[in-house]
Amino acid sequence: MSVLLAPSILSSDFAHLADAVAAVERGGADLIHVDVMDGHFVPNITIGPPVVKALKRVTKLPLDVHLMISDPDKYIGAFADAGASMMSVHVEVLPHLHRTIYAIKALGVAAGVVLNPSTPVVAISEVAGDVDFVLVMSVNPGFGGQTFIPRSESKVAEVRALLDKAGNSGRVEIDGGIDTHTVGRVVKAGARILVAGNAIFGTADPERATRELKAAAMAALQA
Ligand code: DX5
Ligand code: ZN
Repeated sequence: MSVLLAPSILSSDFAHLADAVAAVERGGADLIHVDVMDGHFVPNITIGPPVVKALKRVTKLPLDVHLMISDPDKYIGAFADAGASMMSVHVEVLPHLHRTIYAIKALGVAAGVVLNPSTPVVAISEVAGDVDFVLVMSVNPGFGGQTFIPRSESKVAEVRALLDKAGNSGRVEIDGGIDTHTVGRVVKAGARILVAGNAIFGTADPERATRELKAAAMAALQA
């Protein structure tokens, strides 16, 4: 399975989003990761469907929308209409997770579930056969530029094993603190979608940073 790089625009200059997306596209990005925060589930507020819609107009890359919000059921329709290709929801806020997964799929969008660092893998065992992908948070969600939590590496492997057991070839995604130092470990553990914000947009040359991170990921895949 190939490895996909998903730059997170959270760390980009919001006044020049189209330029940010164009730069990582030139650098070989596979997806654009969009962090939606509501100030309730996480202590930060970011962007909503109108911005996703605007991004959709300026990129051909699939939009990977990460919903860090308390009531995702209320908004999945709006984000699907805005142009999301993939949408992930946090298991911590969803008592009817199975229903939400199928509601996302019914909109023609790939459905992912997200685990916070303190949420055990067993929380998704009953839906392991239903999801299109699983996102392992390797920082506590809310902000870019945080330090990778080492335990996340074995957690990726655990999720991979759970999906394999369910006969699900869906990808494991990892989000938080991914850079050229941590990328090799998580790819070896089984991560096949890599989110990176600060490591790309925190540099002077996001195009080059994208190219270098992708190369490091590919090298780890082939090692
Ligand atoms: C954190 C977000 C991440 C964030 C990652 O709450 O979900 O997608 O942008 O940023 P870095 O790569 O800087 O840790
Ligand atoms: Zn994210």
